[in-house]
Amino acid sequence: MIRKAVIPAAGLGTRFLPATKAQPKEMLPIIDTPTIQYVVQEAVNSGIEDILIITGKGKRAIEDHFDRNFELEERLLQKEDEMYNEIMKLSDMANLYFIRQKEMAGLGDAIMYARQHTGDEPFAVLLGDTIIDSVMPVTQQLMDMYNQYQSSIIAVETVPADKVNRYGIVGGKRISDSILQLDQFVEKPTIEAAPSDLAIAGRYILTPGIFRALDETPKGKNNELQLTDALTNLLKREKVFSHTFEGKRYDIGNKLDFLKTNVEFALKHTEFATPFLSFLKEIVATYKD
Ligand code: UTP
Repeated sequence: MIRKAVIPAAGLGTRFLPATKAQPKEMLPIIDTPTIQYVVQEAVNSGIEDILIITGKGKRAIEDHFDRNFELEERLLQKEDEMYNEIMKLSDMANLYFIRQKEMAGLGDAIMYARQHTGDEPFAVLLGDTIIDSVMPVTQQLMDMYNQYQSSIIAVETVPADKVNRYGIVGGKRISDSILQLDQFVEKPTIEAAPSDLAIAGRYILTPGIFRALDETPKGKNNELQLTDALTNLLKREKVFSHTFEGKRYDIGNKLDFLKTNVEFALKHTEFATPFLSFLKEIVATYKD
C-alpha cells in the first residue's frame, strides 16, 4: 500500500528566468493558486497524508505557503473575508515534511533525500512543477495499479512522434491498451531511435529498490544524477511498468506551457470563464495571420 508521497521542488528553474531568480517556479500561480498547491492536492485527493517536499536554496516560500500566517488570518477573520477558510485549510492539507537538497544535482539526487523518510515502503513521486488535470487523480490511478502489480509504475503520455526528442521515452512489451512492461528508458531520443511515443510525465510509484539503483548510477547528462538512468538500473532486478494515464498534463516549468495553462484554467474557472472568453475573442479578432 502507498502511504507516502515525495514532491521534488528544488530545481533551479533556469527555463523560467528571470522569474525564478529569487522565487521557486513551483510557486508560480495558475490563476490564483501556486502550482505546488495543485500537486499537494492531487496527492491528498489520492488518499496520501504524508508528503515530503524536497526544497532547496531560494525555496522558503513553499514552506511559508503551507504554514500558518497568524497576522493574515487575524485580518481576514476581522473582515469576515471568505478567503479565511481557504487560507486556514492550507496549513492542514496533509502532514508535510521538508528537506533541503544541498546541491541541485538532478532529479535522481533529489529522490535520494527521501531515503530516510520512506524507508522500506514504496512511495509516490509527483514533480512539483507539473499539474495533471484528470477526473481520477493520476497518483491514485498509479496507486490502484501498484496494488495489482507490486512494482514501480511510471505515468506516461502519448506525444507527437516529431516531439519525442524533447522527452524521456519508454519502451517495452504491451500488456494492455494502457500498460507496458518496460525494458528501456531513453532520454530525448531521435525519432529513429525512439522505442515508442510514450513520454515520462512527472508521476511515479517507486519501490525502495530505486535507492540501490540510484547508488549504482553514475552522474549522467549535465553532470546530474538522472532518475531515468537509475530506472534503467532498476530494470536489472525488478519489473517496471508504464501506465498511459487519463488526464492532461501541464508542465509549468516552461514559459509557453505556463501561459497556455493559465488560459485553459481561466476558461474553466467559475468566475472568469465568461468574461475571459469574451476578452480572448475580442483580442484574437484584432490579429490577422
Ligand atoms: P526540471 O527537469 O524541470 O529541472 O525538474 P529544473 O532544474 O527544475 O528546471 P530547468 O530545466 O533548469 O528549467 C523537474 C522537477 O524536479 C525538481 C524540480 O524542482 C522540478 O519540480 N528537481 C530538479 C529537484 O528537486 N532537484 C534537482 O536537482 C532537479
